[in-house]
Amino acid sequence: MSKETERLKPDPEGIARACTLLEAGELVAFPTETVYGLGADARQGEAVARIFDAKGRPRFNPLIVHVADLEMARRYGAFGTDALALADAFWPGPLTLVVPIRPEAGLSELVSAGLDTVGIRVPRGEVAQALLRRFDGPVAAPSANLSGKISPTRAEHVLDGLDGRIAAVLDGGPAEVGVESTIIGCFDHPRMLRPGGLPAEIAEQALGRPLAHAPVGDTPNAPGQLSSHYAPDAAVRLDARAAHPGETLIGFGPGCDGAALNLSRSADLVEAAANLFQYLREADKLGQPIAVAPIPHHGLGVAINDRLKRAAHPR
Ligand code: TXA
Ligand code: MG
Repeated sequence: MSKETERLKPDPEGIARACTLLEAGELVAFPTETVYGLGADARQGEAVARIFDAKGRPRFNPLIVHVADLEMARRYGAFGTDALALADAFWPGPLTLVVPIRPEAGLSELVSAGLDTVGIRVPRGEVAQALLRRFDGPVAAPSANLSGKISPTRAEHVLDGLDGRIAAVLDGGPAEVGVESTIIGCFDHPRMLRPGGLPAEIAEQALGRPLAHAPVGDTPNAPGQLSSHYAPDAAVRLDARAAHPGETLIGFGPGCDGAALNLSRSADLVEAAANLFQYLREADKLGQPIAVAPIPHHGLGVAINDRLKRAAHPR
């Protein structure tokens, strides 16, 4: 497929056009507060299959279903006490809940990849909310990047990878959070499946008890969690105090004056998360190996370090 990708403004006309395309089974990339998603009507099998084709995903990983609110979420998944507590506390927001699927609800089987659970999320981005309210149905959406590449936090990033492969992109400007949603499984004891935009400590406060952690092993609970992911073309070295000759340094905090790019001069993890994928892209364009300064491992730093570890994984 190589039709021209429409660039839509996030106004009522653009939202209406996006809905028309989704209803017709086309792919529309849209902004959320975490990263841009590649959306398809989650009830149309062919539309969902197109997502895998456009991204070049090697296999059918389950996809997150995006809906406007908890009421709509409950049509597709069974919410127990823990899931309800988390949804009440953090939706709309950067949290995906994996809950038992309601098989009669009419989601395409490709969305859950044959599992008996489904990942559901209510994003808080204004444009995402407007789109989901108007569409009034479930939108399956992975991050809108080619498989294995850096996730997109701007419409231009989406087009860098997917121009001509998708019907349209809604341009809502830079993503506010900048890393993907935290995924928590609520099918037995609540379980952290992927660190993300909602820090684990904050989720645990709302739950009133600690989260279990996904067993480390060769069958990840979030099957998309392959080791090499978020990969720039350049090699990436972590915990760098300074750049070696010929490296581009991505710094963090006030001590990194020589760095070409600094995720946050004031050592603010929220700012660093929002800059992460953009700066990895910018550094990658310079065509040299990339070195990244140490990032504190708490709050949003856990999600940042998770993405950096994958970016640095030997490939
Ligand atoms: O912030 C986000 O979560 C973004 C925006 C667009 O919403 N989406 C996103 O989707 O990051 P994706 O496909 O790149 O990552 C979704 C992850 C994958 O690792 C997938 O395996 C996991 O969620 N997942 C989805 N459904 C699941 C399920 N039923 N059980 C376990 N893991 C699931
Ligand atoms: Mg992704």
